[in-house]
Amino acid sequence: MKAVKKILITGGAGFIGSHVTRRFVKNYPHYQVYNLDKLTYAGNLENLKDIEDAPNYIFIKGDIVNQQFLKDLFEKYHFNGVIHLAAESHVDRSITNPMEFIHTNVVGTGNLLFAAQEQINKGKLLDCFYHISTDEVYGSLGDTGLFTEETPYSPRSPYSASKASSDHLVRAFYHTYKLPVVISNCSNNYGSNQFPEKLIPLVINNILNMSPIPVYGKGENIRDWLYVEDHALAIDQVYHAGQKGQTYNIGGNNEWKNIDLIIKLCEIMDIRLNRKSGTSHKLITFVKDRAGHDLRYAIDSTKISQELGWKPTLDFETGMAKTVDWYLNNNEWLQNVISGDYEKYYDDQYKKR
Ligand code: NAD
Ligand code: DAU
Repeated sequence: MKAVKKILITGGAGFIGSHVTRRFVKNYPHYQVYNLDKLTYAGNLENLKDIEDAPNYIFIKGDIVNQQFLKDLFEKYHFNGVIHLAAESHVDRSITNPMEFIHTNVVGTGNLLFAAQEQINKGKLLDCFYHISTDEVYGSLGDTGLFTEETPYSPRSPYSASKASSDHLVRAFYHTYKLPVVISNCSNNYGSNQFPEKLIPLVINNILNMSPIPVYGKGENIRDWLYVEDHALAIDQVYHAGQKGQTYNIGGNNEWKNIDLIIKLCEIMDIRLNRKSGTSHKLITFVKDRAGHDLRYAIDSTKISQELGWKPTLDFETGMAKTVDWYLNNNEWLQNVISGDYEKYYDDQYKKR
């Protein structure tokens, strides 16, 4: 019988966090998984309904910005591992409200690092502190080139700058205190349970409601899309086999111009909804561009693929079909998350464009 390991996952009620939490709870029965989440607008326990009664799963409501709370938590549980996903994650919100991002992403990560280090200082081992980050820390690419782990940091939005700051703090704790850290920087995720402020679920929701599809600028910006469960698989591999002090880039090798991706979604939705071909396309509306809009992200995943054998398992066609079907089959989930503050957010964000 394997010894029980206590794993703290932060942000487990969010989009990617819920997929990671489910994977760890289901695949590792000898792990006791603690999901620490503040349940902001983006956190939703409905995402984890299927595992909420699992014997190796415990939810803890709490805020990583509260340093004393974290110190007490580490004192109580002595975690063997930390997988840190909790963050404010939406670029547009960071443009409107940067301080929230500085508090959660920078101070919150600092608090978590400090609490983990204090646990070690008190003689309780920690196997791994894994920080989940983004490709946006590298800035914006031109028409060619890929982000590697050596690409200099050049964040351009309050969101990416706050994530870059947190990456630097994580590395500082490795070099200064020998905290056993590992970092990964991933490209755009898509899949089930993503909050409909992000492009793909927002477009699906607007098509469902026959509302305009807001395309920023000319729709020429490019993103590298990865199915969320393939990100969760990569996180599993990095957590278990990643070298401490190292960074791994994770990407889908799947670049799409926004406008092409939106047109593709329009076509899929027309078929799924039995609407006349071209119905959704008519909803496309070009609106004022995002401030400081990064042109292109694209990831070179050679390192994680060569060192850890990771590669995406799902092709984009299949992933998109699964994603669209999930939103169509989970209308109640969608309605629940767009009740409340969503309408106000949407008006503030889009009416002025
Ligand atoms: P999300 O916004 O869907 O979820 C974030 C979660 O963190 C929510 O459950 C929220 O309640 C929780 N949270 C926020 N502030 C908190 C606080 N102060 N204390 C405790 N919990 C708090 O985000 P996501 O898209 O799932 O992203 C998860 C992580 O992955 C983030 O760190 C993000 O930077 C990173 N990332 C995301 C993507 C992407 O495409 N979505 C790509 C690469 C990296
Ligand atoms: O690259 C990884 C990052 O991907 C993550 O770190 C972030 O947490 C995640 O939100 C995502 O950031 P983006 O800004 O790339 O994702 P978003 O879905 O907001 O936008 C994708 C592209 O679509 C981007 O070029 C802006 C554009 N867009 C977005 C929205 C919401 C539109 O044209 N219209 C929209 O209404």
